Amino acid sequence: MGNPLAIRGGKPVRTAPFPAWPIYGKSEEDALLRVLHSGKWGRQDGKEVETFERRFAEYHGVPYGVTVVNGTVSLRISLWAAGIKAGDEVIVPPYTFLATASAVLESNATPVFVDLEPDTYNIDPAAIEKAITPRTRAIIPVHFAGLPADMDAIMAIAKRHNLTVIEDAAHAHGAEYKGRRVGSIGHMSSFSFQSSKNLCSGEGGIILTGDKGLYEKCKSMQNCGRVPGGAWYEHHVICGNYRLSEFQGGLLNAQFDRMDEQVRHREEMGLYLQDMLRGVPGIAPQNRNRYPVRHGYHLFSFRYDESVYGAPRSVFIKALAAEGVPAAEGYVIPLHKQRLFVDKAFGPYTACLETRPGIDFGNLPLPVCNRASAGEGAWLYQALLLGSKSDMDDIAAAFAKVYEHRAELANVK
Ligand SMILES: Cc1ncc(COP(=O)(O)O)c(C=O)c1O
Repeated sequence: MGNPLAIRGGKPVRTAPFPAWPIYGKSEEDALLRVLHSGKWGRQDGKEVETFERRFAEYHGVPYGVTVVNGTVSLRISLWAAGIKAGDEVIVPPYTFLATASAVLESNATPVFVDLEPDTYNIDPAAIEKAITPRTRAIIPVHFAGLPADMDAIMAIAKRHNLTVIEDAAHAHGAEYKGRRVGSIGHMSSFSFQSSKNLCSGEGGIILTGDKGLYEKCKSMQNCGRVPGGAWYEHHVICGNYRLSEFQGGLLNAQFDRMDEQVRHREEMGLYLQDMLRGVPGIAPQNRNRYPVRHGYHLFSFRYDESVYGAPRSVFIKALAAEGVPAAEGYVIPLHKQRLFVDKAFGPYTACLETRPGIDFGNLPLPVCNRASAGEGAWLYQALLLGSKSDMDDIAAAFAKVYEHRAELANVK
């Protein structure tokens, strides 16, 4: 039938590359050289990091921002600042990057995994409510792929049970929930600036909060337990050196100038692509219609229905790649099935084992997440959405071609 799939030797839909990431230019070069020539390379000497913290917090309408070395440490410090300790339980989704749960373990607390909404892969508020025990102290919702989790429902549960909410917004720079920037809704929020993220400086992270007391704790914990007015060798709380350098601060200031327009562009292309894919059977983009949102689109997440294609997800992804559209199978191992959890390889953080003795993480009943990981979940990377409408047309054409030629997927390994 016509031009066969590229994976079967046909002509691919496209060979041109998509936009590369990160995008940078003279302003980044100038920022790095400005820091270099100033000789002020540490944040205690210069103003770049401090300026960025103020700008990023302002963008979110939040008074306080504390940058740290990455989006793992930002979660860990947020939990420390919230007073999470041995014996406490923290509710987390299982379909996320390791840090969302490992930060809980590193507080010597217990991550309690709860299942997802089937059409968004965000944490399911109804499942949160059912998982609450007298030990529950906090919830870490992840805005998966950049789609805001249902924060009104989550904050209402938190209020009823007196819990701290730390938004993991590592995927969600610039995303909005019912007109409010994500990262400004929970008691604290955590962003990552690791190189793949929608705002990046190679590595980095930030904690945002509207609570002065939490801010002061986070600020001290990222700087060796120092306090304002204290001596350099005076340390007050559990802490470390988690400061960003001025080079990272300079890069972040330059990248931040680009960010909002990039968020706007991805939103426009994401909506366009979602519409284009509507006619492709067996492909269901993340449902963004539960409430009004601006999607952050760190990922363009979609569900793949193997029964329509008669081939596993891995084969579909290979076929798409051969057509010139790179995609990924997503979190193929959910957190609760990672060896770390199956073997309970928690190092010195053993309080978790006393709180829930005998827990069998690998067999937790989390059917939506297990289905997503096993073969349903998949995504496109954010930089594709920085392309033009004609790039989106190519992506949709590749999906449609693989659907029309699905019989050719049989026996592909
Ligand atoms: C959802 C989520 N949370 C936290 C992190 C941790 O961020 P970092 O890699 O900066 O430590 C990531 C990064 O991949 C992430 O995707």
